[in-house]
Parts: sequence; structure tokens; C-alpha cells
Amino acid sequence: MHVLVTGGTGYIGSTAVEILLSQGYQISILDDCSTGHADTAPAGVTFIQGSLLNGGDLAQALVGVDAVMHFAGKSLVGESVEKPVMYQQVNVQGSRNLLDEMHKSGVTKLVFSSSAATYGEPEHVPILESAPTKPTNPYGATKLEIDQMITAEATSRDIAAASLRYFNVAGAYKSDRGWLAERHNPETHLIPNVLRSTKENPVKIFGTDWPTSDGTCVRDYVHVVDLIDAHIKALESLQPGKHEIYNLGSGDGYSVRQVVTAASKATGHEIPTLDSPRRAGDPAVLIADINKAKSKLGWIPTRGIESMVTDTLASFN
Ligand code: UFG
Repeated sequence: MHVLVTGGTGYIGSTAVEILLSQGYQISILDDCSTGHADTAPAGVTFIQGSLLNGGDLAQALVGVDAVMHFAGKSLVGESVEKPVMYQQVNVQGSRNLLDEMHKSGVTKLVFSSSAATYGEPEHVPILESAPTKPTNPYGATKLEIDQMITAEATSRDIAAASLRYFNVAGAYKSDRGWLAERHNPETHLIPNVLRSTKENPVKIFGTDWPTSDGTCVRDYVHVVDLIDAHIKALESLQPGKHEIYNLGSGDGYSVRQVVTAASKATGHEIPTLDSPRRAGDPAVLIADINKAKSKLGWIPTRGIESMVTDTLASFN
């Protein structure tokens, strides 16, 4: 099967490219490299450095393709609050263009990177796919709008689609060419920040007065390799006219302090931390109910928080 990976030079997209290739899929990549890195694109793939906002780039990227994994998009909550119009443009308009160009090219299979940010502050945890969707920031709102667009597309144009709602993706993947890992600038994610913490520049703990067992936020971390495994299972299970939504997490929650403890074990030294005020927009607890992905896709995440920390650490060297 020939898969177009949009955003295929980013952290998650580049990992998908490597794993798909290793399993015999043929790959095209469309990425504008605004946050991705062209050097991740392996030999043997068709790489179009271009944009979802350019019809010509899209048409070229879809040549010969059977299915699309759509990772491209802006993904920082804080940035989305400052630049909501850019998030509408890139995420929503970009996805609209992709769906229209897929229709023109006769490509009917789609796996989309959605987000737990579509749910907003949960009323109940663990969060089911049927939970209310009330995003609390423009990033989550754009992901929800795209999910709704895809549902309409499945009904009106009979496409076969899955939206995968990621919780906290972490870890790294060791390919034959070396480690693929987070290379964000600036890095906002907890695990890389904890592992880079120094006495001079300690990692900030955003809030120590949350209503949780140790006062710090609880999140559901899922290893990027398990995440891509779910994408491939979702791709292989697509049904025409159906749009399925799956939560992807581990089903377990870890507090910020528990992540720091896991990192301390992995590095063999204490991690300097600085108790700091709450970060705007953070919910206290986000944990996925992953039973739908387990039962319908036969997906079982197998890599725990220790692997996420040790793989991220190994990728630094
Ligand atoms: N945190 C710190 N210090 C840091 C970084 C993070 O204390 O330096 C805390 C955050 O406050 C939060 C937790 O660690 O409680 C995890 O934060 P991340 O920034 O790693 O991840 P988020 O939970 O904010 O965001 C992730 C994805 C988003 C997605 C969101 C929805 O990165 O794209 O999950 O579940 F929208």
C-alpha cells in the first residue's frame, strides 16, 4: 500500500514513516518543514517539501497514493491562544484542502492525528470517546472542527476514516539510521524538559496545588512507537463510509512528580526542579479510556513510562 504521510518530517510523522517503511509500505511525504526537519526523510520515499495550502503541492503528493496519514499541523496550545487565525488557516483550511484534493484524486482512506485537547476539561476520567467535546483552546477547537469535517466527508463522499485522539505522546524510536525524537524549539513537553534539567536551569513544575494526590497535574503518556502501531492497525481496519474515533493513551495517569522520579531513576541522579505557578489552560487530570482501541483495533500499548524516559534519554546522545 502506498501511504502519503503529511507532516512526515515532524516528531510523530517521521517515526510513522520509518515504521511504515520497515513494514513494506511505500511512502510519500508532504511537509513544509516549518517545524519538521527535512533530514529525517529517508532515501526511497517521495518527498515533497510543500504545503497543504497549495493545491499543486497536494495534487503532486497524492499521485499514486492509496491512503493518507495526516499528521501535518500546528500543535502548541499556548501558540494557538496567541495566533488563532494561523491555527484555523493551517489546521482547518489545510485539512479542508487535503480532503477536497483526496476526493479529486480518488483517494478514500484517511487516518488523522486528532487530540485529547478536543475534550477540554473532562467531567469524568478516564475519558471515553463519547465524552462531551468542549475544547478550552483554539488548538483543540481546530482538531475538533477537522474531526467533524471528516465525519461529514465519510457520510457525503463515502471515505473510510479514523481520527486518533492522542493523549501525551513521548519516547523516541531507534531506526537503522539512528534515533528519531522530539526536536522542538522551544521544547515545551515535560519529559525532554525534565531530562535536560540542570541546577542552573531547573525544570519548572507548573502548579503544586492541583487537586491530585501530590498536587501536580496527572497525564496519560503513550510511547510514540505504540502510537504508530495503533495508526497502522487503524489504517488496516478502515471501512468505507465510516469515521471511527479512538483515544490513544496508556489508560494510566502519572503526575508530574512521578515523571520526575522515573527520570531520576533512569539518569541515576536527582533531577533539579523548581515549583512554579500553574500554566494557563492546563486541566488537572487527563487519562484516556482506551478500551475502544483495544477491542476494535486489537491494540495494546506495551511500552511504559520507563521506556519513554530511557528512550528519550538515549536519543540525546
Ligand atoms: N509541565 C511542567 N513543566 C514543563 C512542561 C510541562 O510541569 O516544563 C507539566 C504541564 O503543566 C502538564 C504536564 O507537565 O501538566 C504535561 O505537559 P506537556 O506540555 O508535556 O503536555 P500537555 O499535557 O500540555 O499537552 C499534550 C500535547 C498537546 C495536547 C494535550 C492534550 O502536547 O498537543 O496533551 O492532551 F493538546
